[in-house]
Amino acid sequence: MIVAAQDTTARPEAVNETPWALEGLPTFPTVATRLLQLLSARDVQLAEVGRLVAAEPVFATRVLQMANSPLFSLQGQVKTISHAIVLLGLDRVTAIAMTRATADFVAPAMRIEALRRCWRNSLAGAILSEKLARACRMDSDVAYLAGLLRDLGRLALLVKYPEPYANLLAVSQENVFDLLATERDLFDIDHCEAGAWLMSKMSFPAEFCDVVAHHHEAPAGDAFRLVHLIRIADRLADAVGFAAITLPGERGVEEVLSDLPAPSLLRISHDTEELRTEIADRIEAWR
Ligand SMILES: [Fe+2]
Repeated sequence: MIVAAQDTTARPEAVNETPWALEGLPTFPTVATRLLQLLSARDVQLAEVGRLVAAEPVFATRVLQMANSPLFSLQGQVKTISHAIVLLGLDRVTAIAMTRATADFVAPAMRIEALRRCWRNSLAGAILSEKLARACRMDSDVAYLAGLLRDLGRLALLVKYPEPYANLLAVSQENVFDLLATERDLFDIDHCEAGAWLMSKMSFPAEFCDVVAHHHEAPAGDAFRLVHLIRIADRLADAVGFAAITLPGERGVEEVLSDLPAPSLLRISHDTEELRTEIADRIEAWR
């Protein structure tokens, strides 16, 4: 099972009233929502996941295209979703399906370069979360999905308000404004609050809600949790060149990595160029 829904974190309170900025939002793909809900249940059956993805033929075809891409060294061998699950494993197919579904969700906004940078930032954060989780001996598949979805609120805002959000990015960069504060000024809600609200409505695992709501907050307490790892991955994505906006005084790779637990530091590259090239290659494979 890919998602260990640990109830160590409180699920954000479900707010009944829809924040005005999120009214009429295009819905997050049903297949992605159901996939996460299914995987958070115990004893998930492979066949159930296969049926869920295969039930939407156009989507399933695009998942198979990814499974057959050079990323997985199985070019042309994967014929069906159930075949993909056998060859690649349930976790990998889930990661592909979730990435494909999220890419479809943001696709209408991708005509604007500034918003494409946000999407690349989400992908870079997901890939780095996976790498950091391996170095920290944490579940890398859960980390990938949490990294991918950490900025769900931002993706939702930019899908609903592409031009205003692109302007917000430009103004924030030009004036060195804090992005979260600027979001609150414009939308009365920042992307962490927006993401937490959306997650509460979709009944996602509590651990993911924690990440979405708190990935920009300094860690409290000694325990190193998933949300802390995702916060480092988020900053690392910026440090290796995949920032949504570039502000002066951003931390470099070495400084960002210093927040990791000491033993894991030896298990990850500190080379900015090496990390940038690897992430760029993997992002390119999603096109
Ligand atoms: Fe964020």
